Amino acid sequence: MSFDSRVPFVLVTGGKGGVGKTTLAVNLAVQLGREGQRVLLVDLDLGLANVDVLLGLEPAHSIEAALEGRVSLAECVVRGAHGIDVLAGSNGTAAMARPDDARRERLVEGLALLSNDYDIVVGDSAAGIGPDVLAFGALATFVLAVTTPDPAAVTDAYGLVKALGEHARELGLDLPTPELVLNQVTGAREAESTAAKLAEVCRRFLSRSPRLAGWIPRSPRVSEAARRRVPFVQPFAGRTTSSGESDCLARLARRVILSCGIADPAVASGGIRAQDWSNA
Ligand SMILES: Nc1ncnc2c1ncn2[C@@H]1O[C@H](COP(=O)(O)OP(=O)(O)O)[C@@H](O)[C@H]1O
Ligand SMILES: [Mg+2]
Repeated sequence: MSFDSRVPFVLVTGGKGGVGKTTLAVNLAVQLGREGQRVLLVDLDLGLANVDVLLGLEPAHSIEAALEGRVSLAECVVRGAHGIDVLAGSNGTAAMARPDDARRERLVEGLALLSNDYDIVVGDSAAGIGPDVLAFGALATFVLAVTTPDPAAVTDAYGLVKALGEHARELGLDLPTPELVLNQVTGAREAESTAAKLAEVCRRFLSRSPRLAGWIPRSPRVSEAARRRVPFVQPFAGRTTSSGESDCLARLARRVILSCGIADPAVASGGIRAQDWSNA
């Protein structure tokens, strides 16, 4: 299977359920959109999709309709929601929840075509290390592995890094090491110490050293935004010193832009201040 596209594809995954993968994928995509990127957000949690719920969307068609041949994938795209385009999935569809190589291949082919209209594709993924997660992970430009400081979540993030590495080896691919996002932390210190411990275990047993791409504090504003079905990122975020969730997310978006090697429109137009770059 190939993702025959030069457009960067970032997969947000993480191993454990409930760590904040969808919250991060949605808000990262919206923030990238605010930074001037043309973003396609794809719900790859096939069968239990909820990106549309978090964004308050009511899409006419889900990915499922396209895979059944009822509509084209392009017709499923909800355009201009919070500044981004969204490809929503279906929820509670048993057939979609079952891994199916042929169906996945059709989806990837369609996505590769669609992605040409964008600067970046962000995928939200299911929990676990099932065939879909591994296949989408192997196609990604890079993987963001989301975890909380909870030991069970950290263990699952380790399991994900390990499984992705093994999958890549089986395919003969040299995939980049996933980057970590620490969610629901009390602050930078907890994020850094948790990431350092996880990176150390990965170094010892997997000869890989995942770096910390960013962190987001546990905040009632995040869950409140989810209840209101709107993104939590606020416009004009981006202060480097703040530990507020919006600014943390803006720094993560900056990091993703750098990791993907895509042009930053704000920089291209000379609109960014020097201090925005420190800590990026
Ligand atoms: N930083 C955070 N602070 C507070 N609540 C959060 C935070 N991140 C996620 N949540 C909440 O945690 C729950 C699970 O998040 P979700 O993104 O659906 O996880 P996943 O996609 O990994 O299953 C949601 O209710 C969400 O609002
Ligand atoms: Mg989710």
